[in-house]
Amino acid sequence: MEFKTLAVVGLGTMGAGISQTAVQFGYNVVGIEPSQAGLDAGRNRIASGLAKFAEKGRITVEESEAALARLTLTTDRAAIAGADIVIDAAFEDVDLKKELFRDFEKLASPTALLASNTSTIPLVIMAAETTAPERVIGLHFFNPVPLMKLVEVIKTPATSQETIDGAVALSKALGKSPVVIKDGPGFIGNLLVVPFLLDAIRAYERGVAEKEDIDEVIKLGFNHPMGPFALSDLIGLDIVHDMAARMYEEYRDPKYWPPPLLKQLVRMGWLGRKTKRGFYTY
Ligand SMILES: NC(=O)c1ccc[n+]([C@@H]2O[C@H](COP(=O)([O-])OP(=O)(O)OC[C@H]3O[C@@H](n4cnc5c(N)ncnc54)[C@H](O)[C@@H]3O)[C@@H](O)[C@H]2O)c1
Repeated sequence: MEFKTLAVVGLGTMGAGISQTAVQFGYNVVGIEPSQAGLDAGRNRIASGLAKFAEKGRITVEESEAALARLTLTTDRAAIAGADIVIDAAFEDVDLKKELFRDFEKLASPTALLASNTSTIPLVIMAAETTAPERVIGLHFFNPVPLMKLVEVIKTPATSQETIDGAVALSKALGKSPVVIKDGPGFIGNLLVVPFLLDAIRAYERGVAEKEDIDEVIKLGFNHPMGPFALSDLIGLDIVHDMAARMYEEYRDPKYWPPPLLKQLVRMGWLGRKTKRGFYTY
């Protein structure tokens, strides 16, 4: 399986990061957004990501320009026809993902891999929308994609070994360390991290300690780069809430139930770093 061109559908935080990484590593990327404004914002994210890498000396200015030249942008979903793999990085919305995968099968090359960067939606839901579930796979990159090494490669019972091997090879060629995991809400990373974040919030709600102190214990005691409150603010409290709610929906285990304080902050629109206020103020 040879990859030359990747189609990335959705150029928000993750899609832009995946696109930046791919063009940096020599792949052609067709980036797709529903509107010109979305494309412009996506291009800015990718260009400024490359510029930052050049400023820091990780790549040269010439390499950054050559990388950007490998990016093509369009609002026309049919442009995925020329790609060896299509990667969904659109909003985390089940109905949208179902619709995308129906279209991917119709519009993409009959040999293209059909991948999703979803954090919590079971891959089988998307695979079931197609008649080619053997080509459907999860490629769960971590944020910020250009810096984070991990990719969770998610296989369903229908994913072919050829598809898994291709996804693993591509992840490695993008400078990542892939780990193959069976499909299931939360995969491994979020399956373990989300309850940890929720437990920290519950401990704070119960008055066990101040949030700053809980963060300090986790940082100093366990060598984590940041504590659970700083991490929740970085991920986005709405995202933490939605991941927890989806995992609860699937497992019906109270450890995934979003605690009232988290719900309250989300309802206030205090979503963390991106709104300058969450557990902390930025
Ligand atoms: N943010 C994270 O830390 C993170 C980490 C891993 C995985 N994910 C997953 O990656 C996906 C994207 O998350 P994000 O944080 O980049 O979201 P985001 O909101 O930053 O970006 C989503 C993008 O998708 C675009 N979009 C919406 N509908 C579309 C359509 N029909 N066609 C093409 N583009 C469309 C939007 O315009 C937007 O630019 C989600 O499935 C999310 O669960 C997110």
